[in-house]
Amino acid sequence: MVKVKTKFYCTECGYETPKWYGKCPGCGSWNTMVEETEKVVKTQGLTSGIFHTKEKPLPIINIESGQEPRIQTGIAELNRVLGGGVVPGSLILVGGDPGIGKSTLLLQTSHEMARAGLRVLYISGEESTRQTKLRAERLGALSAELYVLCESSMDNIEEAIDQIKPDFLVIDSIQTVYLAEVTSAPGSVSQVRECTARFMRIAKGQGIATVLVGHVTKEGAIAGPRMLEHMVDCVLYFEGERHHSYRLLRAVKNRFGSTNEIGIFEMNEAGLTEVANPSELFLSERPLGVAGSTVVASMEGTRPMLVELQALIASTHFPSPRRMATGVDHNRMNLIIAVLEKRMGMFLQNQDAYVNLAGGVKLDEPAVDLAMAVSIASSFRDLSTKPYDVIFGEVGLTGEVRAVARAEQRVKEAAKLGFKRVILPEKSMKGWNGPKDIQLIGVNTVADALAVALD
Ligand SMILES: Nc1ncnc2c1ncn2[C@@H]1O[C@H](COP(=O)(O)OP(=O)(O)O)[C@@H](O)[C@H]1O
Ligand SMILES: [Mg+2]
Repeated sequence: MVKVKTKFYCTECGYETPKWYGKCPGCGSWNTMVEETEKVVKTQGLTSGIFHTKEKPLPIINIESGQEPRIQTGIAELNRVLGGGVVPGSLILVGGDPGIGKSTLLLQTSHEMARAGLRVLYISGEESTRQTKLRAERLGALSAELYVLCESSMDNIEEAIDQIKPDFLVIDSIQTVYLAEVTSAPGSVSQVRECTARFMRIAKGQGIATVLVGHVTKEGAIAGPRMLEHMVDCVLYFEGERHHSYRLLRAVKNRFGSTNEIGIFEMNEAGLTEVANPSELFLSERPLGVAGSTVVASMEGTRPMLVELQALIASTHFPSPRRMATGVDHNRMNLIIAVLEKRMGMFLQNQDAYVNLAGGVKLDEPAVDLAMAVSIASSFRDLSTKPYDVIFGEVGLTGEVRAVARAEQRVKEAAKLGFKRVILPEKSMKGWNGPKDIQLIGVNTVADALAVALD
């Protein structure tokens, strides 16, 4: 008889307990424990042990190294994000909202790889081979070395891998794959974890560059345990606004390169095309040389992001003025208005103030302060801002501009998107050099920043 057990798993960190908790004892997240029935079968080598080599420890100086060999994918933006191409034997996780274009991107990549003479196996657990063929026809991605299989059983997938012996493998998606030994449903924490461990072993053992597609949850994280992200070599997110045609590919983890690079694509009928000049695309929506609009460089976790911040200051018709903040913290907006009144002598008491971050983003870090101050002052004085400026910095109560973290990354992002000038806290400028094609202006007070930005 096989013993049937129920276990609870944390969907955040993969913590296992026999009992339900409201708060995960592993990572402290609330309401993340899910119940899964698990048949305990004695099989060898599930998650336990990804590497089983019989090698002896070696002194590090005797280990052979050299550059990691890279396979060019034929898609320059993807190569860039991966740090110069795919490393053979690496395991890459690609996440993104449904319909954003993950399957499209990977089918196009597969085609490019196959055209370059590599053997490619594309496994879809979500669409039939016919559907995949139709998509490939639409994208013009038909090559003889591209093999397609619709399968979600891990054992059958392994058989196909042994048969085809691909150089590049795509699993679309990891949430549809299941192992017969694990009885919980495909997409559950234990299935995702065990299947990923299998793919890890296949990738490392046979030197197959493997891409796993992962679904994302409502909160925007890749579904399944956080552990999934720890297991793989690279984690890429494919993102974009549903109503816009541009898409961004970002690395949030990369064991073979930096995570600062972003890849930019445009989605159209014939699939994804690479965007050679991203700044044009981003600046196209933005009104240039108008009062009240600035671009702020913010960090989203470890990811830099440039966002347009708009302010509108208009005389009020009410006894007390309206203050509306969308995407930024309401209290910080009040603080900035108070600083401008007290330190810069702006009379804002009879003015309504509206502050808005374009594109529906929310930023709650203090680095947004300085851009907010410039936007409000710009609208109040009706002086236009410079379209080539990016602004960031924290503002203190005396009107001083305080240092913020990761200034270098923000500046790099600004340079990458084609901006010419960055106004930033002078205290954040120590210990690094910005790219040479961008001018850095360090400021110590809000007054300094306004003098530069609204001159
Ligand atoms: N036959 C088609 N013609 C035009 N656009 C399509 C067609 N099929 C799918 N698309 C579009 O391609 C986009 C990307 O889809 P897909 O690559 O399947 O996304 P994902 O795999 O991330 O869910 C979708 O927004 C969809 O609207
Ligand atoms: Mg898909």
